[in-house]
Amino acid sequence: MRIAVAGGTGAVGRRVVAALVASGHDAFALTRSSGHDLTATDAQPALVSALAGCAATIDVTSVATTSSATSTRFFGAVTGNLLAAERAAGVPHHIILSIVGAVEAPAAYYAGKKLQEDLVMASSGGWSILRATQFHEFAAQMVEQGRMGPVQVVPTMRSQPVAAADVAEVLVEIALGEPRGLDRDLGGPQEENMADMVRRYLAATGQKRPVLEVPLPGPWGHALRDGTLLPGATARRASQTFADWLAAL
Ligand SMILES: NC(=O)c1ccc[n+]([C@@H]2O[C@H](COP(=O)([O-])OP(=O)(O)OC[C@H]3O[C@@H](n4cnc5c(N)ncnc54)[C@H](OP(=O)(O)O)[C@@H]3O)[C@@H](O)[C@H]2O)c1
Repeated sequence: MRIAVAGGTGAVGRRVVAALVASGHDAFALTRSSGHDLTATDAQPALVSALAGCAATIDVTSVATTSSATSTRFFGAVTGNLLAAERAAGVPHHIILSIVGAVEAPAAYYAGKKLQEDLVMASSGGWSILRATQFHEFAAQMVEQGRMGPVQVVPTMRSQPVAAADVAEVLVEIALGEPRGLDRDLGGPQEENMADMVRRYLAATGQKRPVLEVPLPGPWGHALRDGTLLPGATARRASQTFADWLAAL
């Protein structure tokens, strides 16, 4: 099967491409580094030809921001471009990876995720939405993005993290089947505290930096710490713990 992976070089995207290729599929990444800026107003012609013959597109693009304006601009443009190009190229299945709790707290980065979900749900073709919790790899992303001088700043945040590899496996399973609409949520095996995850990640990678846990103000900050991001009772639970993931680094 020919499958396009928008964001196919990212934390989850590269695992999706690798898993598809390993099982004999013709999977390829659509990213700026492969010549496709999916936010560009002139992205269409090249996208339509890249998507020719695809059975599905998996969108795992992302933008590093806490601004709701930046996030909605990014996910609005990427989703609009992909859906229009898929219509023109006859791609029957659009898959996105959303976040457990994002729709309940549509502020900051999550405002863009809510818009992305809304656009996909309103689209005329087949679609699937998988909502997952934070990846174990999110601790590393926090370290990259949350450094303030000598200190590592982390918002107070409850999470039940899941390995990006486990998320990739479910995305592949979805892409190889019929559109599911809104699928069951996916989370990891146990709840963690994000500041603690970052401390353990820093220690495991030999980095010495104090971690400052900060409760963020406003509805978004509240949602991060009040359990909104935790998976419900009906969610699928992947088996790899954060400790297992750290041990395998
Ligand atoms: N990280 C988490 O904990 C987590 C949890 C649940 C759901 N999610 C969702 O999963 C998705 C992937 O997250 P991630 O953490 O794997 O992302 P990531 O590692 O930040 O990777 C982002 C990908 O998007 C591509 N990209 C960025 N801007 C682009 C543009 N203008 N045009 C084309 N491609 C672009 C990047 O490639 P280039 O830079 O080469 O363009 C890269 O391949 C996101 O939608 C996120 O909301 C993430």
